[in-house]
Amino acid sequence: MVGVGARLQYDPRLDAAPGQKLDPGRQGFRIALGKHRLGWRFLVHASILPPGPLLPLPMPAPSLEVHPDARTASRVLAEQLVARVQAEPELVLGLPTGGTPIELYAAMVEAHQEGRVDWSQVRSFNLDEYWPMAPAHPQSFAHFMREQLFEPAGFDPTRTHIPSGEVAPESIALHCAAYETAIRAAGGIAVQVLGIGLNGHLGFNEPGAPRDGRTDLVDLAPSTRERAAAAFAPEKVPARGITMGLGTILEAKQIVVLAFGTEKAEAVARSIQGPVDEACPGSLLQEHAQVHWLLDEAAASQLR
Ligand code: F6R
Repeated sequence: MVGVGARLQYDPRLDAAPGQKLDPGRQGFRIALGKHRLGWRFLVHASILPPGPLLPLPMPAPSLEVHPDARTASRVLAEQLVARVQAEPELVLGLPTGGTPIELYAAMVEAHQEGRVDWSQVRSFNLDEYWPMAPAHPQSFAHFMREQLFEPAGFDPTRTHIPSGEVAPESIALHCAAYETAIRAAGGIAVQVLGIGLNGHLGFNEPGAPRDGRTDLVDLAPSTRERAAAAFAPEKVPARGITMGLGTILEAKQIVVLAFGTEKAEAVARSIQGPVDEACPGSLLQEHAQVHWLLDEAAASQLR
């Protein structure tokens, strides 16, 4: 015996055509039934269920792996990327900065040094950069990427892309549009690696950022600036950055989120098990069909 259940969800922003298939779930699928003139969206999530009560219907199980520590989790991802690039040398990667990917990048460098992979044909697009920010500044994301990954792992600098922190104010809109165009011209991001902020931010998309946002200049949340403060003189903490939008990020074919440490546990639980809500950008990942979370035990500690 099979049964079909439904779940209604409100989201004022999604522009789904009636009947459009949104994403293939692992245990079922969701379809958009239509859009109210006031902007309501109705999703039906349907699954083939074993005999028993029909509701409540589970959403697709998130794909996640919990490892004892960040190093192990990072190495798992590094090996997956090595295998992907061996098969597809021009793979298009979306990359984060911050503390989270440091072990991942170290493992990618190691794989290059051991002669197991050639990253030189890979095309990469970084999530974000402070603005204004000179690429040579030691706290710039451009500098971080050169030091941590691009130079030691043998990436081709002409194939790596980072939003510019030194673009003139009047050219920002054009620069951001060109960034989107470059991603599309590369065929879209095949694997987007993400870290997550304590407030659930993705890139510099702070709580409240629009689900369909594109690459743009944005304000940094006070908590994000506080966290950055250790690296800058107090009066020099950047207030803004250029970031891929949530719409840009969610267009990646596959997304891998890394999160480590107890401090990330709340954002992880909220993103995976909380309501889908722009107040927690990470929760929007629930609407993507191919998201994989790689956690350490501490970051997974608030999952129910
Ligand atoms: C950086 C980025 C940010 C970080 C997040 C977590 O490019 O996109 O969203 O991923 O702030 O930062 P860490 O890893 O330093 O905890």
